[in-house]
Amino acid sequence: MVDYKSLGLVNTREMFKRAINGGYAIPAFNFNNMEQLQAIIKASSDLKSPVILQVSKGARNYANATLLRYMAQGAVEYAKELGCKHPEVVLHLDHGDSFETCKSCIDYGFSSVMIDASHLPFEENIALTKKVVEYAHQFDVTVEAELGVLAGVEDEVSAAESHYTKPEEVIEFSQRSGCDSLAISIGTSHGAYKFTPEQCTRDPKTGKLVPPPLAFDVLDAVMEKLPGFPIVLHGSSSVPQEYVDEINSLGGKLPDAIGIPEEQLRKASKSAVCKINIDSDSRLAFTAAVRRVLYSKPGEFDPRKFCGPARDEMEKMYKHKIIDVLGSDNKLAQLD
Ligand code: G3H
Ligand code: 13P
Ligand code: ZN
Repeated sequence: MVDYKSLGLVNTREMFKRAINGGYAIPAFNFNNMEQLQAIIKASSDLKSPVILQVSKGARNYANATLLRYMAQGAVEYAKELGCKHPEVVLHLDHGDSFETCKSCIDYGFSSVMIDASHLPFEENIALTKKVVEYAHQFDVTVEAELGVLAGVEDEVSAAESHYTKPEEVIEFSQRSGCDSLAISIGTSHGAYKFTPEQCTRDPKTGKLVPPPLAFDVLDAVMEKLPGFPIVLHGSSSVPQEYVDEINSLGGKLPDAIGIPEEQLRKASKSAVCKINIDSDSRLAFTAAVRRVLYSKPGEFDPRKFCGPARDEMEKMYKHKIIDVLGSDNKLAQLD
């Protein structure tokens, strides 16, 4: 059993309280490799932002669970080396699919876990979430649950269609499960294809697709039922069109990729939404930068020469999210 506090990690409890009161959201960035982790820590440390490092089941399979955990531990030390004397870094399991996966992460030193039982019937979702909460809270590990189903398809996360969270269920769910935060469905979805062209309208001036707005009425109703309770948004990449266009112009094929407009995430950040999950935008930044280098220098075969620029591009993107979208810069409890 590894105590996450001995690794220098923190859980989400205090940072969520401060985020709700302060009208901003904590970035939850997924990582699978060293360059992503370097970029996340550089961006959050330079900007004095708390940060949630997310590890999915797919990431654990890709990179090895033990290695990822030691990388997160190293990330805390790296943040200090970058001049951030009191970093606030959470190591979080993203979309935990079973009690066993959550327990394994808690035993490995994670400070926060998500149990995603949103595809199960209501009672089963409560029962499984409660089982995880009872185990996690013994070690002061915080638990995120999900109610409602997001559309979209990713390697380990799929749901054929979106079912918005039903506000009338959230009080009973949070009280009976004991969860610390709740991911809700208000129209965001995973991946780089969040809406079909048929669901969008077209801007007559630019010809670009304009996605339908998020269901802020559902968010408002949830906040009315659960005042001050931490709300999480998954599937919150914006799919920057500059990256999509660059990738497509350099031999890629991402037709009609589209995300959530950043103004809507900015608006959500000012509410009880205190954790915003971003993964796909990092994949796009990485891919655009790699294509840029390899296209202009076909003879390049030193991975540092294209992974380095990819890391720089991700850092730039993470900084933009922290400052302009989530507003979590300069929000560490101790800034010195
Ligand atoms: O929500 C899912 C995350 O983007 C993780 O995706 O399962 O492909 O690692 P992944
Ligand atoms: P995106 O695919 O929109 O980046 O969402 C990531 C996510 O929700 C991770 O849990
Ligand atoms: Zn997610």
